[in-house]
Amino acid sequence: MTDVFPVSDEWAKRAYVDDAKYREMYERSVADPEGFWKEHGKRVDWIKPFTTVKNVSYAPGNVSIKWYEDGTLNVSANCIDRHLKDKADKVAIIWEGDEPTDDKKITYRELHEQVCRLANAMKANGVKKGDRVTIYLPMIPEAAYAMLACARIGAVHSVVFGGFSPDALAGRIEDAASTFVITADEGLRGGRKIPLKANTDKAIEKVGGVDKVLVVKRTGGNVGWKDGRDVWYHDAVSAASTDCPPEEISAEDPLFILYTSGSTGKPKGVLHTSGGYLVYASMTHQYVFDYKDGDIYWCTADVGWVTGHSYIVYGPLANGATTLMFEGVPNYPDAARFWKVCDKHQVNTFYTAPTAIRALMGAGEDLVKQTSRKSLRLLGSVGEPINPEAWLWYHRVVGDGRCPIVDTWWQTETGGIMITPLPGATPLKPGSASRPFFGIRPALVDADGKTLEGKAEGNLVILDSWPGQMRTVYGDHERFEQTYFSAYPNTYFTGDGCRRDEDGYYWITGRVDDVINVSGHRMGTAEVESALVAHPKVAEAAVVGYPHDLKGQGIYCYVTLNAGEEPTEALRKELRDWVRQEIGPIASPDLIQWAPGLPKTRSGKIMRRILRKIAENEFSNLGDTSTLADPGVVDDLIENRQNR
Ligand code: WT7
Repeated sequence: MTDVFPVSDEWAKRAYVDDAKYREMYERSVADPEGFWKEHGKRVDWIKPFTTVKNVSYAPGNVSIKWYEDGTLNVSANCIDRHLKDKADKVAIIWEGDEPTDDKKITYRELHEQVCRLANAMKANGVKKGDRVTIYLPMIPEAAYAMLACARIGAVHSVVFGGFSPDALAGRIEDAASTFVITADEGLRGGRKIPLKANTDKAIEKVGGVDKVLVVKRTGGNVGWKDGRDVWYHDAVSAASTDCPPEEISAEDPLFILYTSGSTGKPKGVLHTSGGYLVYASMTHQYVFDYKDGDIYWCTADVGWVTGHSYIVYGPLANGATTLMFEGVPNYPDAARFWKVCDKHQVNTFYTAPTAIRALMGAGEDLVKQTSRKSLRLLGSVGEPINPEAWLWYHRVVGDGRCPIVDTWWQTETGGIMITPLPGATPLKPGSASRPFFGIRPALVDADGKTLEGKAEGNLVILDSWPGQMRTVYGDHERFEQTYFSAYPNTYFTGDGCRRDEDGYYWITGRVDDVINVSGHRMGTAEVESALVAHPKVAEAAVVGYPHDLKGQGIYCYVTLNAGEEPTEALRKELRDWVRQEIGPIASPDLIQWAPGLPKTRSGKIMRRILRKIAENEFSNLGDTSTLADPGVVDDLIENRQNR
């Protein structure tokens, strides 16, 4: 029996939605999606109101997704200007720096000024509507300004996580054909400096095509400089006007591209558009976090991931909220930092990832108990399945048993939260993302595409569209259809496995494709493999995930060396560093096993199922190995598996 944590009376009363209201709203949202989304589309300020709501086809070969398509709006005006009337002096962003002594507050009035200045500076430097702007910044307010300035002038941003390598940055600049980059001299995390400008220089050297680089001075460290191309951010904005009228943008004009890993090939540019995305991000932020005016809200994600886009910047700011942006890491200067920041800024809603919870659990309860955390009312989790042990600790220790936890399942592709408890409505089961948000129709299918009813386990698909859904893979609509709409025609395939229990609660079991989830970061095993085989000493590589106590999944690499190469500890380290160089520290292999041969079928296909089982230590049950070209390689792999 799983524990069930009922909704407290206090929460049922306080919240926008209690259980009865949830059922009523949900029923309506799926029975009459047009009417439901017409009504909720009005939460956004439109320049020209929409007259059509939904125009969607999931038909094979003709996938097309449009919401509110004849409406026009400006996303930045929705996140800033419309609050100036009665909230100009309200704090929009609380910024907490890497050092606990470093913080500042930015009001909506100041946000308006900063975003206008930057938007004008970008225009003065040649950025036009539709241009792709790459943002490679640390967690500083300028990252939010940059996103909103793009939205203001109709440029399309592509934020690249500051932990990615020059090569990974180069690939993203190239794919988006981006000519304008915004970066900083250096980033600062946990007292360590990250050479963002130097990385940008290397990336541009590799791909070319970039005309201008706007550089924020964060640390004052030395940087290389190319006259005519590089421009100091502070110079550009101080010369610019504080008035930049927002462009009129069509609902279906792109807002941003965000690259994410898939099971094959290079990362895909997930494209989100303006109107539907903003409706969905702001509505989920309001209901899932039961956001009310005056709340102090903190999402610990990086703006380089979709969580940062939807739940640090767009959702909260569209709702006129105070959103906290944290530059640092959970364990600097010590493992109580999160809780100290909650006390310092009187945070009410705290949204983080299971990997952070597990790491802080390891640091012990005492550090948590030294802080008050009385301001906390609601806790959230995102990015990977949360194991019940971590859930219970989060609930009992961090929330003092008082705060509900919303375990929110969603994806870069979905734009916003899809399956989640609502704090005033949903009895909580630790480890379950529970029930669908309004308008979301999840279903489970088996390998043949047969829909499973009632209590069941299968692949998670979504039967109908919602306003926040991605519209295409940038520059490759065929790949979009192939990836999400071909396995099970007429539905969106999530790539996740899932179980539904007797109460209709959904329990995400993890990816069913060759994507792994390392500390809440999505990683294509194919990307790590291609980085490994790019090393001159490597002949072949296969990469799989394995259960990892802190990271959720770790990266397990089987490597076949070229003939004559010695498998040494030094080479192991060299390969690890190599992958970090090629992709970034988040892709760093945890375990490398030397594999004289890989298990292949007679047609040469690597049987990854077997490699997964060995990495998971479940080699007593490898299934059918009779179709292998050389069944003998399996014994060697088992014998030399890496201990942990
Ligand atoms: C994948 C999406 C959503 C923003 C952060 C990650 C896994 C995400 C949960 C959750 C179980 C989860 C899924 C999903 N995932 N949230 N609450 N419970 N699994 O976005 O990088 O696009 O990764 O993360 O496997 O497919 P992403």
